[in-house]
Amino acid sequence: MLFRYGSAVTGKFFYDRSDIQKKISSLLVGGQSFMLKAPRRYGKTSLLKNVLQTKKFDYFYADFRKTPRLELFNNKLLEYLYSKMGIKGALKQLQENAVSFLLTHKTTVKVTLPLFEASVELFGGAVMKEDERMVQILDLIEQTAKELDETFYIVLDEFQDVKKLSGVETADILEMMRGTMQQHENVCYMFAGSHMTLMTEIFENRKSPFFNFCRKFVLDGFDIDELKQELVKAFKSKEIVFESDELLLNLLHKLKGHPANTMLVMQLLESLITEEDIKLISDLLIQKAYDEAREEMNDLISEYIKEIKTKEHLHDVIYRMASGERQILDANSLRQKRAYLIDMGYIRRKERGVYEIIDGFLEDNLLMI
Ligand SMILES: Nc1ncnc2c1ncn2[C@@H]1O[C@H](COP(=O)(O)OP(=O)(O)OP(=O)(O)O)[C@@H](O)[C@H]1O
Ligand SMILES: [Mg+2]
Repeated sequence: MLFRYGSAVTGKFFYDRSDIQKKISSLLVGGQSFMLKAPRRYGKTSLLKNVLQTKKFDYFYADFRKTPRLELFNNKLLEYLYSKMGIKGALKQLQENAVSFLLTHKTTVKVTLPLFEASVELFGGAVMKEDERMVQILDLIEQTAKELDETFYIVLDEFQDVKKLSGVETADILEMMRGTMQQHENVCYMFAGSHMTLMTEIFENRKSPFFNFCRKFVLDGFDIDELKQELVKAFKSKEIVFESDELLLNLLHKLKGHPANTMLVMQLLESLITEEDIKLISDLLIQKAYDEAREEMNDLISEYIKEIKTKEHLHDVIYRMASGERQILDANSLRQKRAYLIDMGYIRRKERGVYEIIDGFLEDNLLMI
């Protein structure tokens, strides 16, 4: 199989993105923290994981969308800290008996004894608020990195959801995080998120603690020319060719460089051609793969439309975008509706005054009335 669809992809299943990979790669080498925002299913997680793996950097990864409580994040961080100190499965041992944990590992641990002892003292039973515990763990991670003379890499995915964690007692967890992270010279933080507006609010609003904290990137769709060449090459490795380059190019344009949708169509194309035991991809086959992909995405698209309908006028605004009809709302209301649609990840601003629907399948679906 040449293509993967669903969760994050790396290695041979990772396509395109050479420019941003280079940029990120040099930031990682310099230990420079950064944030990456992009709509859902655009390949943020894949990009970060792939660059880190390509550089063979070991890293910590947490996804705040999937994490219900701060305590769980802290425990994961702690496990990572101890793994860097050379201890596997530390948390369980620590919870069972902190003293014997200390005795068992004090001679083999990779850091100096005072640092190891400080870590155990902090977590061997002391009652502490989870947000304070987070700060302490992050500081210990920095100290460990410093002692080991290494850069540590920490990926905080869907970072905008950090405020939704339960167990956060401090009014501004962001303030607390920034306070500690800004002092860290040996940890490279990577923040990713799909909620465009919240990410902008966190990293670009002057009043936010993370304002000017790090470099910022917006991940666009695939670069169609680069991707086209790679796809031709991938199919060729199985002796499969397109009837014409133009066919592939048109398809990629129709998919608008949407990474997940594009990969789904490619995978279906590969299955169809294998099933039919042929080597030439025709226009008809492309049409079939595209329709199958859209069919497969139907439930998700219905969910999208349901969500769009939860706010007044949004459905008609986006419908008019799809059909090319003139918008009828006054300028202020239209601005507000577009802002909602951007927040929800359905449209994006291409340039001043020009917006486009991100997902081609959604666009098709809107027009099927
Ligand atoms: N560079 C890439 N090469 C090949 N496929 C990709 C790439 N980026 C994304 N994809 C496709 O998109 C799917 C989703 O990618 P990924 O999970 O990395 O996106 P995401 O932006 O992190 O999504 P979410 O917002 O849901 O977390 C992948 O399973 C894959 O099919
Ligand atoms: Mg992701």
